[in-house]
Amino acid sequence: MSRSLAVVTGASSGIGAEFAEQLAARGYDLLLVARREERLDSLGRLLSERYSIRSESYVADLANDDHVLQLVNRLHGEPHLGFLVNNAGFGTKGLFWESSLESQEAMHRVHVMATMRLSHAALEVMVARGNGAIVNVSSVASFTLSAGGCSYCATKTWMTNFSEGLAVDLRSARSAVQVQALCPGFTLTEFHDAMGMNRGRIPAALWMKPEQVVNDSFRGLAAGKVIVVPGAAYKFVRFLMWALPPAMRRLAALRSGRAMGRVQMSGKGPRPIDGPAG
Ligand SMILES: NC(=O)c1ccc[n+]([C@@H]2O[C@H](COP(=O)([O-])OP(=O)(O)OC[C@H]3O[C@@H](n4cnc5c(N)ncnc54)[C@H](OP(=O)(O)O)[C@@H]3O)[C@@H](O)[C@H]2O)c1
Repeated sequence: MSRSLAVVTGASSGIGAEFAEQLAARGYDLLLVARREERLDSLGRLLSERYSIRSESYVADLANDDHVLQLVNRLHGEPHLGFLVNNAGFGTKGLFWESSLESQEAMHRVHVMATMRLSHAALEVMVARGNGAIVNVSSVASFTLSAGGCSYCATKTWMTNFSEGLAVDLRSARSAVQVQALCPGFTLTEFHDAMGMNRGRIPAALWMKPEQVVNDSFRGLAAGKVIVVPGAAYKFVRFLMWALPPAMRRLAALRSGRAMGRVQMSGKGPRPIDGPAG
């Protein structure tokens, strides 16, 4: 009998690589998606040997429409597709109009358009078969604002809201297929290196490991949770953002943008430290 297939985007590092490992440990074959082929190949080799599963590297730039549509076609042809992790993503820093439009568009394509298209393809297969799961790796930033992180927070808010909306559609169709928005806070991956952010600005106690984040995602799926926020500190952030009046949320956004080094203050107001790096 064929094993279920798990597709993980952004599997070449960080949270995506950890999802790949934990899915392989659960017996899934893997389709690992990202731009860095060598990384995908070496992770695939390691997991195939360790867990006796099959792994295939799929090189794609998810900011590229053609690449996404080719991957969509591939998913349509996978009757055993059992798990999709929409995890690929990146951050930028700098004020919106001072960052390149190209980097802002790429972020919307990767976080929003690729997630929407791949979820559509996966749900067509999964709902017809009556089982499967999608985890959309959003962020605790989906509940917040942050100066210098306008598109990041907005696209992650979309991911959380989209996932919740899909869960409602699935429930109305009485489908057993699950969708989850996973909303981590600061996690030790290559994410902050890629965006050129100094990790030292963030208190050590706030950093989580990818294992903790992915463990919480699987625990959340077992409990039927649609929104999973790993870590007590970040559950509190979510509550605070819900409880604060809008003007206070915006004040918190100015402070968090500066604390993270996404912008800095000059005499005239918040100024960018440098341009986008994502
Ligand atoms: N780390 C955190 O603190 C944190 C917190 C909350 C949410 N998140 C979210 O977690 C997800 C995973 O990030 P991470 O922390 O694991 O960071 P990471 O280690 O930098 O991994 C990001 C992954 O996304 C892939 N990726 C980026 N742009 C891509 C593109 N255009 N096409 C295809 N793949 C692309 C990268 O692969 P290639 O470069 O090989 O293409 C890499 O595998 C992201 O969506 C991020 O927003 C992270």
